[in-house]
Amino acid sequence: MKKSATCYFVVFCAITIGYLSKRSTADLDATPRITVTYNELSDSKWFSNKVKNYSTLLLEDENGILYVGARGAIFSLNSSDISLRPRKTIHWEVNADETKACQDKGRNNQTECFNHIRLLQRFNETHLYVCGTYAFSPLCCYIDVKTFLLPTTFDDGKEKCPYDPVIGYTGLIIDGGLYTASRYGFHSVPDIRRNIVPHTLKTEASPLHWLMDAEFVTSTIIRESLTTAIGDDDKIYYFFNENIMEETSEFLDKTKVARVARVCKSDTGGKKILQRKWTSFLKARLFCSSPYYETLKSAYTLNVGNWEETIFYAAFMFQWGNMKISTVCRYSLPDIQKVFEGPYMEYQDSSRKWTKYNGEVPKPRPGSCITNELRSGGYNSSQDLPNNVLDFVKLHPLVSEVVKPIGDQQLLSKKNVVYTRIAVDRVSALDNEQYDVLFLGTDNGWIHKAVVINNKVHIIEEIQVFKTPEAVENLVVSKKQNSLYIGAQSGVLQIPLGGCNQYTSCYDCILARNPYCGWDGGACRETLTSQDRVQMTQDMQNGNRGCVNHTDQAPPIKKMRTVLKGFDVLLQCDLRSNLAKPQWFVNGSDPLDSNDAHLKEGIDGLLIIDALLEHSGEYSCYAEEGGLRAIVTSYNLSVLLELPKEKIYSEPTPIVQLPTAVPQADSKLEFVYISVITILGGLCLVLTIVLVSVSCQQKRKGKYSTTRVNAVELQTVSSNFKDKSEETNNYSDGCLQIIPGEAPTSPPSKLNPPPPPPPPPLPSEFTNGISTLPNMLRKMNGNSYMLLRQNDEASSPLYNSFTEELSKILEKRKHTQLVEKLDESSV
Ligand SMILES: *[C@@H]1O[C@H](CO)[C@@H](O)[C@H](O)[C@H]1NC(C)=O
Ligand SMILES: *[C@@H]1O[C@H](CO)[C@@H](O)[C@H](O)[C@H]1NC(C)=O
Ligand SMILES: *[C@@H]1O[C@H](CO)[C@@H](O)[C@H](O)[C@H]1NC(C)=O
Ligand SMILES: *[C@@H]1O[C@H](CO)[C@@H](O)[C@H](O)[C@H]1NC(C)=O
Ligand SMILES: *[C@@H]1O[C@H](CO)[C@@H](O)[C@H](O)[C@H]1NC(C)=O
Ligand SMILES: *[C@@H]1O[C@H](CO)[C@@H](O)[C@H](O)[C@H]1NC(C)=O
Ligand SMILES: *[C@@H]1O[C@H](CO)[C@@H](O)[C@H](O)[C@H]1NC(C)=O
Repeated sequence: MKKSATCYFVVFCAITIGYLSKRSTADLDATPRITVTYNELSDSKWFSNKVKNYSTLLLEDENGILYVGARGAIFSLNSSDISLRPRKTIHWEVNADETKACQDKGRNNQTECFNHIRLLQRFNETHLYVCGTYAFSPLCCYIDVKTFLLPTTFDDGKEKCPYDPVIGYTGLIIDGGLYTASRYGFHSVPDIRRNIVPHTLKTEASPLHWLMDAEFVTSTIIRESLTTAIGDDDKIYYFFNENIMEETSEFLDKTKVARVARVCKSDTGGKKILQRKWTSFLKARLFCSSPYYETLKSAYTLNVGNWEETIFYAAFMFQWGNMKISTVCRYSLPDIQKVFEGPYMEYQDSSRKWTKYNGEVPKPRPGSCITNELRSGGYNSSQDLPNNVLDFVKLHPLVSEVVKPIGDQQLLSKKNVVYTRIAVDRVSALDNEQYDVLFLGTDNGWIHKAVVINNKVHIIEEIQVFKTPEAVENLVVSKKQNSLYIGAQSGVLQIPLGGCNQYTSCYDCILARNPYCGWDGGACRETLTSQDRVQMTQDMQNGNRGCVNHTDQAPPIKKMRTVLKGFDVLLQCDLRSNLAKPQWFVNGSDPLDSNDAHLKEGIDGLLIIDALLEHSGEYSCYAEEGGLRAIVTSYNLSVLLELPKEKIYSEPTPIVQLPTAVPQADSKLEFVYISVITILGGLCLVLTIVLVSVSCQQKRKGKYSTTRVNAVELQTVSSNFKDKSEETNNYSDGCLQIIPGEAPTSPPSKLNPPPPPPPPPLPSEFTNGISTLPNMLRKMNGNSYMLLRQNDEASSPLYNSFTEELSKILEKRKHTQLVEKLDESSV
């Protein structure tokens, strides 16, 4: 029953995703090529203090300073290394009375009654302007960057800063004016405001609200007055989500849509109508991939050169049942401008619907900035605009066309990942092309680094930047410092943009398609800081050309494995790339015998079950990726009939890692055979038999218990699936969930008792590879994004047999592929 229901929902989900995406399966769930866990993180610099919530960052590259706004504190850090001292700190906390007053307002004294710094902007040459929520009673102040001390006088922040520390907020200081957007005050009324300058402005709230429960994401200034042929004004663009207004079917009520809005910088409001209100406010729908449920999570303005070439990157999320899908789209500024110049929407009182307005539009065009054309018509400022235009503006804030992404499709989709933040860097690669590198922060402490190549996204790597799962709240790119700054609850992290030294071979460097990196003949290096870029090798377009000489490749480490006949042995092959496929060869170039039931090929290793004497030989594992094949590791496997007594005792220091040249290996093999023959010949017969039987029994018993599999408990989606609800129409429970399998990597370190002391080591030659299991399982999960269990299997997480476990994994792996195929067929 349950199985068929499950099947049904797999198909359902697959079809849904296929339907919602115009792209192929590969694009729908792009796999990061490399997984870098927290412990593998290198070159990172960390800053944290006693306080929490390092969510506001302001980088001043020219001064070499990163300002950080946290809960009750502001820091001035050296941007070349944020962990360096000395650094300056301002403590700006609320006192007990203010906490009490906040609590009396019914607020949570554990989260809301603090001073969360929400605005941190440069005001003039000498001062910063800073606003904090100040225990639900916001305050702002000017801070002299030289002295870096808290001033004695404060501004009321109610008009500039939200009360709530987590509510959507964006603020910019532009030419002395403070442009903020949030839901303000105790009642969270959405508004876009201008302050500090003489002409303060707000949005209109009657008779129609211009903003419907808006949740602001970000804002940006585009200097459209520069190099303009029409004498245009600078504009501020706002990105937010709000309740949908243009469609009012029951189904869609209360659904949020993503919006882009804009105002003109020189707007001074109307004279009688729209007094102290924006006369230039217009908004449009921002569409990425899904007609419904799509929320904007973050947006980034990529400003390179001319303002006309500005590109906006935006990360969205939508939820289907319990499946979360994140998408990334990009938009061009001219496309957005065109939409704002198109037809308006109008609210029909009779039908209570917003529909396209087909009537006459007054002149000058409502919502436009003051341009040369308007000036020549006698409209020197927005105060000169005629009443009929302003009346029209009041009732027509929304335009009817939708802003579509470049190429009409999303760049990237990712299942069961929530992107909370996006930042983009444009990089000149060695092929003289420009590539956009996306840094996507997730809600659980990872960064996905991806590159756009020919309108497709290749995820170079996923990096675990925080030990505990916490949301990435801010991302700032510094080309000058070659750094990415990451703000989150627990602190700020600085990592290099490229991270080239993690690639150890030419193949690895090329296959990465990391535009920051190139192979210089000896190492993978940053191309920008390198002396001679011309000599470097990189292949952004194909990611597989340039490594002609295999000498670049370090020779693989040959390992010895010796087992007794009848035992299982695991030949591990740790592929670093999640996109690579392992390929095994025996005794040189023979492929594995696919009919041999003793051989089980996994993603990360070859398992030989119940080994026979004829399984002896040389096994080589190659990684195949992008049409290239590189050797990863090779083994000399000896299967012995019986345990040679001398070998155990005559080898005091076991050597595993030592690379072994071929002739040596042969002589070793010979020696092994001689040993076998010797044993067979009957030397030391009695003693050997006793030894063997004793040690065998011990090994049989303890064979798998040494692996401590319980440390890597497989996560189940269905741990709360026990209530045998047969409800089949509840897809949110029945839907198979494929999650990136990093979860089991690091068991919650604080909660778990320290692991028991390791068992006495076996002579290394006799390890059958199983001691490396936890790492292997991790990689398997990381590699394959494996399908997790659907039902509670009766078995305990403490598996008795690795064979069983690997078979299970392989079995599941098959399912994963099945699901992917379903996706494909449904597209
Ligand atoms: C601040 O951090 C704490 C703990 O790290 C968290 O519980 C809280 O939600 C955070 N507050 C905000 C506004 O992010
Ligand atoms: C940051 O640190 C570097 C290296 O120590 C130093 O050269 C530089 O002057 C520092 N910058 C600031 C703004 O203190
Ligand atoms: C927060 O409020 C709770 C209940 O209102 C109270 O018990 C607690 O002492 C308060 N904590 C602080 C730090 O004021
Ligand atoms: C910057 O603004 C502050 C606050 O208004 C003011 O005290 C200071 O003199 C200004 N500095 C300059 C260089 O104008
Ligand atoms: C607009 O400015 C021009 C030149 O500065 C001036 O001649 C004209 O009278 C102004 N028009 C209005 C309506 O103020
Ligand atoms: C490859 O190696 C050979 C000899 O070792 C050398 O002559 C040749 O120039 C190398 N080719 C490249 C592309 O490095
Ligand atoms: C590899 O070669 C050896 C020696 O020639 C042979 O005994 C062995 O069976 C071969 N192994 C396999 C798996 O074919």
